[in-house]
Amino acid sequence: MNQAAIIFQDVNYSAEGLHIIKNITGFFPEGKITTLVGPSGAGKSTLFKLCNGLHSPDSGEILIKGKPIDTYNPIELRRRVGIALQSATMIKGSVLENLELPLTLQEKTIDKEYAEELLHDVGLAGDFLKRNAMDLSGGQKQKLSIARTLVNKPDILLLDEITSSLDRVSQHDIEELIEKINKKYGTTMIWITHNLEQALRIGHFTWVMMNGELIESGESSILENPQDERVKQFVKGEIE
Ligand SMILES: Nc1ncnc2c1ncn2[C@@H]1O[C@H](COP(=O)(O)OP(=O)(O)OP(=O)(O)O)[C@@H](O)[C@H]1O
Ligand SMILES: [Mg+2]
Repeated sequence: MNQAAIIFQDVNYSAEGLHIIKNITGFFPEGKITTLVGPSGAGKSTLFKLCNGLHSPDSGEILIKGKPIDTYNPIELRRRVGIALQSATMIKGSVLENLELPLTLQEKTIDKEYAEELLHDVGLAGDFLKRNAMDLSGGQKQKLSIARTLVNKPDILLLDEITSSLDRVSQHDIEELIEKINKKYGTTMIWITHNLEQALRIGHFTWVMMNGELIESGESSILENPQDERVKQFVKGEIE
């Protein structure tokens, strides 16, 4: 069996009387790219918030690198588990100031060479550092957002629909750079996507969630040959 970066053991989570995550037991293999798919409202983004400690389970246990999540201090957890979102939110200021943000919060500054290396990792030229972050294109903002999550060298990177608002060329660029970072740093990636072709193309492993449950998980080829009736309907596009 693969080593697990994250293990869920019978995890439940509710908010405002709604049972959102239901008895989830499963794992995300270490150093691999797992794609996480499922209809809107399935609980995918909520699952991410459980992985980075923003929410705590009502019952069950989450292990990060073999250790219960509640034994990490919050700063350590945030360093180890990074997250990038569809919106790629920027603060007013330069690319450098945006890249530095995770360190500014720790009252540190970024080394210029390291900043250039991170930009290089995401396919942006070093002279971008001086540019105004607000002037970047959507694809460039997403690259910068990914570079920013790399500043603390996370073991695990959570990607929530990071290419959903991008054109095909930028989508392809981001896919390539995620694969490159996965290989270069051995970062465990978990990627939520609505695009099933992308999930199959980029994923080594896949989770299919529906209505708060983990319905199927395994090698991404499960998307080509699902066993569960509900997943069969979902991959045919009969469930949004
Ligand atoms: N804080 C909250 N309080 C109440 N309900 C919530 C809360 N957060 C999420 N939900 C509900 O939980 C369900 C799962 O939401 P979640 O955002 O995890 O879904 P998702 O799978 O990421 O969907 P999408 O693909 O549309 O992003 C939804 O019905 C949502 O309305
Ligand atoms: Mg979501």
